[in-house]
Amino acid sequence: MDIKADVSRSQLAKEEIDSKRAEADAALEKLWSGKEDFTGWVKLPMQYDKAEVESILAAADLIRQQCELLIVIGIGGSYLGAKAAIEALPREPGSPEIRFAGTNLSAACHAQLLAEMRGREVSLCVISKSGTTVETAASFHIFKKELIDTYGPEEAKRRIYVITDPEKGALREEAEREGYVSFSVPSDIGGRYSVLTPVGLLPIAAAGADIKAMLAGAEAMAVCPDWDFSAKDYAIARYLLLQKGKSIEAFPYFEPRLRSFVEWIRQLYGESEGKKGTGLFPAGLELTTDLHSIGQFLQQGSQVFFETILNVLESETDLTIPSGPLEGKTLNQLNRAAVKGVIEAHGGAEIPIIRIDIPKLDAFYFGQLIYFFETTCAITATLMGVNPFDQPGVEAYKKEMKKEIS
Ligand code: PA5
Repeated sequence: MDIKADVSRSQLAKEEIDSKRAEADAALEKLWSGKEDFTGWVKLPMQYDKAEVESILAAADLIRQQCELLIVIGIGGSYLGAKAAIEALPREPGSPEIRFAGTNLSAACHAQLLAEMRGREVSLCVISKSGTTVETAASFHIFKKELIDTYGPEEAKRRIYVITDPEKGALREEAEREGYVSFSVPSDIGGRYSVLTPVGLLPIAAAGADIKAMLAGAEAMAVCPDWDFSAKDYAIARYLLLQKGKSIEAFPYFEPRLRSFVEWIRQLYGESEGKKGTGLFPAGLELTTDLHSIGQFLQQGSQVFFETILNVLESETDLTIPSGPLEGKTLNQLNRAAVKGVIEAHGGAEIPIIRIDIPKLDAFYFGQLIYFFETTCAITATLMGVNPFDQPGVEAYKKEMKKEIS
């Protein structure tokens, strides 16, 4: 069984979806042609460098022996995929704690993490495709100084892992000069499509999750036969719903382990589609939590959105309620009832609903999920008439920010 999208309650007629099928097929074909810039991620699950994955696993082992706290420093596409996987997936016992830094410029957050480093075995993994992003550089140099003060310069070098451009940028220069263990971000893959490259794989492996299973899951999705590849229907439905005035795509999820995965989707969709005055605004909804806060708005507020429910079918853990009015019921039973209740109540309120069924939250299906969303994103953005692989707005912010500090 693969990840599947069900658009039967999207309030779109089959004929409407069919009317865009040829365009979606053309978009998919273009992705696979190998002729478009920044589409290195499309064939990656079938063509990845096996020797590099072994080197990543060796570096991850070293990290796991070396430290009890790994600080992963990076922002945007350089951390969101790894954080999503690490929070969603089962991990080997005894794995280091993973903290993320360089995701803001808050002195208080940095001071807090510096305090938490003291007295613990620590390693750093710094990730930046350009090697020049301000947040990442500021954070890296703060934590590197602490590492040097604690371990001395030589041991500190053995505890720093770098993932950056293969040739250029300040980070590549430093990695070469200091002899850090380093990996490269492929130049034909943009930040938000880079989870299955060393950008995601090294921190995920260091956290003790199974990266080979993830890659196998992505491959299974990539070669999924056309009749079974519902990502295309989902991509078309997203486009059509935007045309009908639904400008927000809300992602309800009933498993809090998916919180950072939805953060990853927000970046993927937001940065890929939000151009030329178009795009769907992606929003996360943690359920059942949010049903008791924003649920009222969803049901009866302004209807500018549709819902794409992330529905995990099987959970490896369950708990039975031991007493009280719900005695004998399990939490999974109640969670499943909540999913159905939301579909009926919100569907009854005329909210278009799409359901993505995820067989279970393990490394294999996580790999499928990544590939599924990357593909839908590229197809919908193409239907919208925008380039899914650039981010001129982000670059503009970076440029203006650098002017301010120079
Ligand atoms: O998706 C993107 O391109 C951005 O979000 C980048 O990942 C982010 O700005 C970080 O850039 P870099 O990896 O160059 O530090």
